[in-house]
Amino acid sequence: MSATLKTRRFTLRPARDTDAEFIALYLNDYAVAGNLARVPFPYRLSDARAWLRTLRDHVPPGEANFAIDLPGQGYAGHVGFHPGELGTVIGYWLGAPFWGQGLMTEAVTAATDWFFKSSGADRLYSGVFAFNQASLAIQKKLGFTQTGQSMLLCLARGREVEHIDTILTRAAWMERSK
Ligand SMILES: CC(C)(COP(=O)(O)OP(=O)(O)OC[C@H]1O[C@@H](n2cnc3c(N)ncnc32)[C@H](O)[C@@H]1OP(=O)(O)O)[C@@H](O)C(=O)NCCC(=O)NCCS
Repeated sequence: MSATLKTRRFTLRPARDTDAEFIALYLNDYAVAGNLARVPFPYRLSDARAWLRTLRDHVPPGEANFAIDLPGQGYAGHVGFHPGELGTVIGYWLGAPFWGQGLMTEAVTAATDWFFKSSGADRLYSGVFAFNQASLAIQKKLGFTQTGQSMLLCLARGREVEHIDTILTRAAWMERSK
């Protein structure tokens, strides 16, 4: 499934080959890559191209990926779903020039709403490295709650980092959306 969603300020759309240079530009930033589990650092154009080649048009909601496309700007970041041990996991990042404007709250809200409407899933999993209070603030606003802590490998840091594990139930999302 490759959906396109409109939010108040931007579009969430499928990523495309021509996004590679922006992806490499924004992910080759330790302040971004170092907050993510599965992104190496340094991050090169070849990494972006290789990642784009893994994307498929027709995937279930739990494997969908969205590019954050700002008017007049283009590719600014990413929200994506992937299978985890317990169920679907949501992950996201935004290029540093765009931080602090509520953009990721808007993106994760739209993607989460789409996920629960498009899938039969009762739960959506996520989490943050323990130092990432901005991302935790986004998840708390959306209704995610902490389920525990774990150690998770951070590729960019080359070591395991303390991680806060979180969950959002469909019931909590429905309640919030009333
Ligand atoms: C974390 C990230 C997604 C935030 O994106 P953003 O668009 O700036 O986030 P928003 O503006 O929507 O919301 C951030 C919230 O965190 C709050 N916040 C920011 N810094 C904070 C801090 N140090 N402590 C507590 N809250 C903080 C903001 O006040 C805001 O909450 P509010 O809307 O209630 O005021 C972005 O900085 C990013 O991509 N970082 C690198 C990659 C990353 O961390 N991805 C998430 C991995 S779990």
